[in-house]
Amino acid sequence: MEKYIIHGGVRLEGSVKISGSKNAALPIFAATLLTDEEVILKNVPQLSDTQTMTLLLRSLGKKVSWDTGSPGRVIIQPELKAGLVVNTKASYEIVKRMRASICVLGPLLTRYSKAEVSLPGGCAFGPRPVDLHISGLRALGADVKLIHGNIVAEAKGLLKNSATGLRRLRGGHVPVMQGRISSVLATDNILSAAVLAEGETCIENAAREPETEDLVNFLKHIGAEITQEIEDPHKEDLFHEGKSISIQRLRVKGVSKLHGGEYTIIPDRIEAGSFMSFAAITGGKLLIQNCEPKHLHAVIQIFEELGLSIQQKSSNELLVKTAGKRLKRLKRLKGIEVSTGPYPLFPTDMQALLMAVAVLAEGDTILEESIYSSRFNHVGELERLGASITLEGNKAYIHGVSALEGARVMASDLRAGAALVAASLAASGKSELRRVYHIKRGYENLLGKLKKLGAKIVLEDG
Ligand code: UD1
Repeated sequence: MEKYIIHGGVRLEGSVKISGSKNAALPIFAATLLTDEEVILKNVPQLSDTQTMTLLLRSLGKKVSWDTGSPGRVIIQPELKAGLVVNTKASYEIVKRMRASICVLGPLLTRYSKAEVSLPGGCAFGPRPVDLHISGLRALGADVKLIHGNIVAEAKGLLKNSATGLRRLRGGHVPVMQGRISSVLATDNILSAAVLAEGETCIENAAREPETEDLVNFLKHIGAEITQEIEDPHKEDLFHEGKSISIQRLRVKGVSKLHGGEYTIIPDRIEAGSFMSFAAITGGKLLIQNCEPKHLHAVIQIFEELGLSIQQKSSNELLVKTAGKRLKRLKRLKGIEVSTGPYPLFPTDMQALLMAVAVLAEGDTILEESIYSSRFNHVGELERLGASITLEGNKAYIHGVSALEGARVMASDLRAGAALVAASLAASGKSELRRVYHIKRGYENLLGKLKKLGAKIVLEDG
């Protein structure tokens, strides 16, 4: 099995180009099932999750071609000209590898009147229910059952789609996320189903993450009718009491057919945030290019509190540097207190990466995980490198240490793996990081990008 060997203590310096967003690309790939016309996607990151999604779409009757002459350009066409689908069952073999496979549920159901998707796997950091996906699709008139570990859904409405002759879902009020944490992929599924449903759908407390916004923009681009309404935060039952996050309602007017088009995926904000962590922890200086600064507000704010200097150099470039030279300067960083939350709050996908940096900050840091209360698999591994962390429920108390030492560690999920890369880059001596397949799920050419910045990191077998 592949592992990274990292010799830490090198200050990273140079420029790094951020790839397209994995979490935006996956639901958009799935949404191409909604049309029989050709879709060309650009800025698609080449990583194992997008490869898995490619396999999944191919198994469902799409021809997916990665343009070898133009990296990140993917052409998606129907296999069968008549608009027939090879099958509407997403197999366990593919779905178990990646949770985002569940994104094909809504598109298949609304386009072909039925769908069967195995309950998804993905990063294992505690319970990850799918009740919101199911209740949301039921609100659109679908009959949804769980049979032998599969979600089996069927459109039961009497109305037929004039373009396909198949039964349609019916638009309706979808209040399932009201008063709860809005779910990103459930929003994506319900939205993708609603665009071809009969009549109007109103999704309350829809996710506001930039990746869902990208799906909205893609769907509009291929002919969907969607309007976004932002609610005054004080009128609604808020998940984050006292925090002024506004709530989004999505209104969808169903159409009978969507067309093709060419669309560019947004930059990956979590990859950009990861490189901020790598800069912070190595006392480095990085020009982060091809990023979208406005998606990174909360992350920038917290890293600035940690003592990083972050300057916007152009509309898509950030210059990130620490106040002084090398790791010792991290001792000057102040202790902080952060809670993860739905966008625009600090993202849960950055929690482990922030923790790695906080491990070397002066004083104590308190990190609260509000989205996945047990997403702390990285804690034990960071401790192997010399971190001092106490866990109490969904809070981690990080007691800053002055140095880390290389050790043998293991990635337990994607972002935990990235956090261990960060910590190993700062640790003295050699670290061995196993199970890098988790990291390869979500980072395009991480090794190459880090090497270009001076990191001493190699991939080995064994
Ligand atoms: C997406 C991201 C993941 C990120 C997460 C939160 C993708 C491919 N993955 O995952 O990287 O960490 O958003 O920003 O985009 N929940 C329910 N019932 C459901 C669905 C979710 O209770 O049916 C809960 C979850 O347990 C969690 C919260 O809702 O507490 C948010 O999870 P959700 O937004 O659904 O995460 P994903 O969309 O799976």
